[in-house]
Amino acid sequence: MSKLRLGVMISGTGTNLQALIDACETADYPAEIVVVISNRPGVMGLERAKKAGIPAICIDHKDYDEREVFEDAIHDALTDHKVQLVCLAGFMRLLTPGFVNRWRDRMINIHPSLLPSYKGLHTHDRAIEDGVRFAGCTIHYVRAEMDNGPILMQAAVPIANNETPDSLAAKIHTYEHRMYPAAVKLIAEGKVRVSANMVVFSDDVEMPAEGLIGPVA
Ligand code: GAR
Repeated sequence: MSKLRLGVMISGTGTNLQALIDACETADYPAEIVVVISNRPGVMGLERAKKAGIPAICIDHKDYDEREVFEDAIHDALTDHKVQLVCLAGFMRLLTPGFVNRWRDRMINIHPSLLPSYKGLHTHDRAIEDGVRFAGCTIHYVRAEMDNGPILMQAAVPIANNETPDSLAAKIHTYEHRMYPAAVKLIAEGKVRVSANMVVFSDDVEMPAEGLIGPVA
């Protein structure tokens, strides 16, 4: 069976990219990364792609006066590589509705909060400051509004005593790295459908039966 062709877009370290690279290297994984695009030069994510033998392209937003022209260059790179699903993995540039609509239901993003809470930046600092008991991460289809769109998968991560933004980020990262390959696998296996603003799964997709209470009670 042919594998789903992924284009991964990054801006930095690329640990989520690495999780996808590792998953794609397992024999029966139903997707392959065909191109990695960074909007920043010299980032570690580009090195990770090169090391894995994946075409790694930098399309530096600073080289473009207009956002649309920058995005046209990204779109062309994605289509040149026959990408079927775009995975935003720490891509820290807002995308215009024009670009987002061209990839509607074919582009997903990972965000370090339990959306729709804590859109935007500094999610961990804000969650700790607010005293919420759970933080987490979300994978969602991308819509024109920032950090918005049908939700595919979420992990709830309890906030411990004396939690710091760094310790929380590290905990959440481990869940991100498990979730991204799992979410892509569900899509590649055709077990996911977008209906209006919701994701609908096929009946054989397992759902956790129970919730969590924090602190443990
Ligand atoms: C991840 O934590 C991801 O959730 C976040 O950037 C980090 C990238 O880490 N994305 C966003 O904040 C998007 N709104 P990585 O480069 O090590 O994968």
